[in-house]
Amino acid sequence: MDHIVKAFRFSEYGGPEVLRLQEVDLPAPAAGEIQIRHHAIGLNFIDIYHRRGVFAAKLPLPSGLGVEGVGEVLAVGSDVVGFQSGDRVAYVGGPPGAYTTHRNLPAARAVKVPDGLHSEVIAATIFKGLTAEYLVHRCVPVSSGDAALFHAAAGGVGSLACQWLRQIGAQVIGTVGGPEKVATARQNGCDAVIDYRSEDFVARVRELTSGRGVRVVYDSVGADTFAGSLDCLAPRGTLVSFGESSGPVEPLAVSSLGAKGSLFITRPSIVHYTADPAEYRASAKRLFAALENGTLKAGTITRFALHDAARAQVEMEERRTLGSVVLVP
Ligand SMILES: NC(=O)c1ccc[n+]([C@@H]2O[C@H](COP(=O)([O-])OP(=O)(O)OC[C@H]3O[C@@H](n4cnc5c(N)ncnc54)[C@H](OP(=O)(O)O)[C@@H]3O)[C@@H](O)[C@H]2O)c1
Repeated sequence: MDHIVKAFRFSEYGGPEVLRLQEVDLPAPAAGEIQIRHHAIGLNFIDIYHRRGVFAAKLPLPSGLGVEGVGEVLAVGSDVVGFQSGDRVAYVGGPPGAYTTHRNLPAARAVKVPDGLHSEVIAATIFKGLTAEYLVHRCVPVSSGDAALFHAAAGGVGSLACQWLRQIGAQVIGTVGGPEKVATARQNGCDAVIDYRSEDFVARVRELTSGRGVRVVYDSVGADTFAGSLDCLAPRGTLVSFGESSGPVEPLAVSSLGAKGSLFITRPSIVHYTADPAEYRASAKRLFAALENGTLKAGTITRFALHDAARAQVEMEERRTLGSVVLVP
């Protein structure tokens, strides 16, 4: 049965003003799809890139927005096995369109969620937590005793990744933009926190590692930090460039990696680390287990009503958010 539902759509790229909350007709789920009513939706920096149209692969317009959510299954399409009405599921990926009360979703992107975890906690952590999982455990395997630098350590991905790095036994150095974020980064497990708005983070990292540099830098800030991040690495270290919150990274001469110490650079995406269904489910299982047994804390969660999504995005763009932001329909 079709439903009239509320959904954010945008028809041109731009600032938060391009987002429009509309009534749209949601058809019955097609073959291979499930229909869900959202309990909570996670807000991510990637939503802002999508809205601005900054990726080479821009979303075709008009488009929905949002890449993760948690909700209850209302109906299943033909050919769907493993899900039924009433199941509580979460998802990452599928066509962007999570900023809605209800939506249809490829069943292959849904995972059942454990009873013990609140929907808002899952919405706050699934996209960022699966990102942290692949960054820390699969992209560059970090070992106990390795020194790691994580930029934006009080943000959504940073809060979860730093906790995991600490549990592995890494020496975790976090950067934050402003003194009010230092305590949060410390709670996330950072051994040392650098306010990169007021301090030279390269010099501080060298000091904290007795001149050696770190084995890995996780850099989602991009333009403002990329060059400095390379200078923080020990010989044969790896720069994981996984975002560009401050703007795109300038092209780099490959030969400079040799001159700086046989360095590696990777530009990973969660898309490729969760494309395989078995890997996707294993990653979600690892995240849920860590949240359930308390080895990972969801941390600060800021709630906004779904209709306030544009305001929530402004808070994130202006660097005022700590931890994760969720939208509640
Ligand atoms: N490649 C992937 O698979 C993948 C997956 C998920 C997320 N990401 C990336 O990971 C990053 C973090 O995502 P998130 O959703 O958890 O966001 P977030 O970390 O909660 O927010 C972004 C943070 O970046 C820092 N930042 C530095 N310069 C900035 C600027 N000019 N404008 C805005 N923010 C700036 C701010 O922290 P400070 O004030 O502390 O500097 C800000 O709070 C984003 O770049 C996102 O695109 C990548």
